[in-house]
Amino acid sequence: MGTFHEVARLEDIAPGELLRVEVGIHLVCLANVDGVIYAVDDDCTHTGGPLDEGELDGCVLTCPIHLARFDVRDGEVVRGPAREPLRTYPVRIEDGRIFVADPDEDE
Ligand code: FES
Repeated sequence: MGTFHEVARLEDIAPGELLRVEVGIHLVCLANVDGVIYAVDDDCTHTGGPLDEGELDGCVLTCPIHLARFDVRDGEVVRGPAREPLRTYPVRIEDGRIFVADPDEDE
């Protein structure tokens, strides 16, 4: 198992909310889907929109720039104009703390 980085606490991100965190040099967008935390690149694969400023509806994240939609569970595109999926990262929760896998490991 790779390295995990502590990035936030569970109380920092309520259900239905998004939160930008830094993992080393990477910007990662956390999404709270009914209490389950997912982590994706905070960088839309269309032209780099800040996804943490978008909207989360269930597991679907809408980019604020041109409204592409992604499933935060697997990063897949739900609606264009984006064509490439988002990279996703494993998340661990321990004692109310959120940890995200190191983006520089695996892949
Ligand atoms: S930058 Fe996200 S849809 Fe264009």
